[in-house]
Amino acid sequence: MSTSPVSRSGRFGSGPAADVAAFSESISFDWRLWRQDIRGSIAHATMLREIGILSAAELKAIKAGLEQIAGEIEAGTFSWKMELEDVHMNIEAELTRRVPAGAKLHTARSRNDQVAVDIRLWLRDEIDALTGDIRLLQKSLVGLGSRHPEVLIPGYTHLQRAQPVSFAHHLLAYVEMLERDLGRFLDARQRVNVCPLGSGAIAGSTLPLNRELVAVLLGFIDAKGRPQVTQNSMDGVSDRDFLVEFAAAAALLSVHLSRLAEDVILWVSSEFGFIRIADAYTTGSSLMPQKKNPDIAELTRGKTGRVVGNLMSLLTLLKGLPMTYNRDLQEDKERVFDTADTVRACVRLMAAMLDHTRAVPETCKAAASDPLLLATDLADYLVLKGMPFRQAHHVVGSVVALAEKWGRPLNELSLAEFQGIDPAFQSDVTAVFDLAKAMKRRTLTGAPGTAEVKAQLKRWTRNLADA
Ligand code: ARG
Repeated sequence: MSTSPVSRSGRFGSGPAADVAAFSESISFDWRLWRQDIRGSIAHATMLREIGILSAAELKAIKAGLEQIAGEIEAGTFSWKMELEDVHMNIEAELTRRVPAGAKLHTARSRNDQVAVDIRLWLRDEIDALTGDIRLLQKSLVGLGSRHPEVLIPGYTHLQRAQPVSFAHHLLAYVEMLERDLGRFLDARQRVNVCPLGSGAIAGSTLPLNRELVAVLLGFIDAKGRPQVTQNSMDGVSDRDFLVEFAAAAALLSVHLSRLAEDVILWVSSEFGFIRIADAYTTGSSLMPQKKNPDIAELTRGKTGRVVGNLMSLLTLLKGLPMTYNRDLQEDKERVFDTADTVRACVRLMAAMLDHTRAVPETCKAAASDPLLLATDLADYLVLKGMPFRQAHHVVGSVVALAEKWGRPLNELSLAEFQGIDPAFQSDVTAVFDLAKAMKRRTLTGAPGTAEVKAQLKRWTRNLADA
């Protein structure tokens, strides 16, 4: 087996045994970092030129060589070598083979700070893409609600019918959750956006590097354009807390998506029948010809398991690692790649599915018109007549029991029957069961009242238009 010209020269008499190489390679997955690796190398080389380590001609040759390699990777013609272990050594070894000055590129740099910078650059781009995807899903939810502004459904607690809400109000609850998810990713991004290059292997360098220049070249800057560099070389190469933050935000996002998926799965069932999903976004059964399954929602719910698992893997990976870099850290990549790929796919697919979903107003109406959903309104009615709420709750409980005993809907009891339970009921009691009026009475901020939900839909449509 050939040995790496980069890391094994001098010290070792032989290359690693084949099974060791196979066990320790990461090129099979970290090749994904090639763009970031090349970008980081060009910034590092530019800085080495600034401080006089590289000549202008050497910098030019290194840049041209890296750009040529980038072109070949992009075109799929670059050959990755397992014996070169990882993306960093594959690219640098090939560069050095083509361009002698490539041997100067690793000056004052270690793969420890190199991999830290690569993964930060990569994650920053992923967060930017993911936040865009989350915006799309929010738009899809608002869009579905806006297509059915008048549709009412029962709201549930304990999966038992509770009180009427508008379909849009239910969907907007997820828009709010996603907004907080988005905030968590943007918050985590600030701590991802710090440049560790210059930390070296563990203890920086004796050479007069310009860390700030590298940071600016790589976009590691704050809102005012000031370079952001890590402040402790040992911390810079050894912590992956920024990956954990991302994985944690992603796990919570997944949990939210899973809850949305579960609602979709319930709603599309024959038992609920509140929505229909277009054929292209459902799948059939290989045996039962009548089946139309909500597989996108089910897979989204299912994939939450691995996203939550990835968070646990990362936390467990870091626990007990002595300072500073340890090879264990190579295990971070597959977990974080999988997390990003999975949540981005789920967010995009759920958005596409909702864009091809509609409410079924008749079934929604039938379910929302259950007068029992207004039992709380009936108690509020008694409160307005001066009755203490605890007593009103008890009285309405007796009304419900009576209606249930006679198998009659609550709103069909006569005034005499109401008054037989409590004389506080008056002839205006029938108005309590007018669902449209009941929805108009819910005027609190955040309540599912007719005007309130319209205002919320408008607010979100406006907010998302600029997003
Ligand atoms: N492939 C390694 C990783 O992902 C790169 C850093 C290796 N550094 C080292 N000193 N072996 O962590």
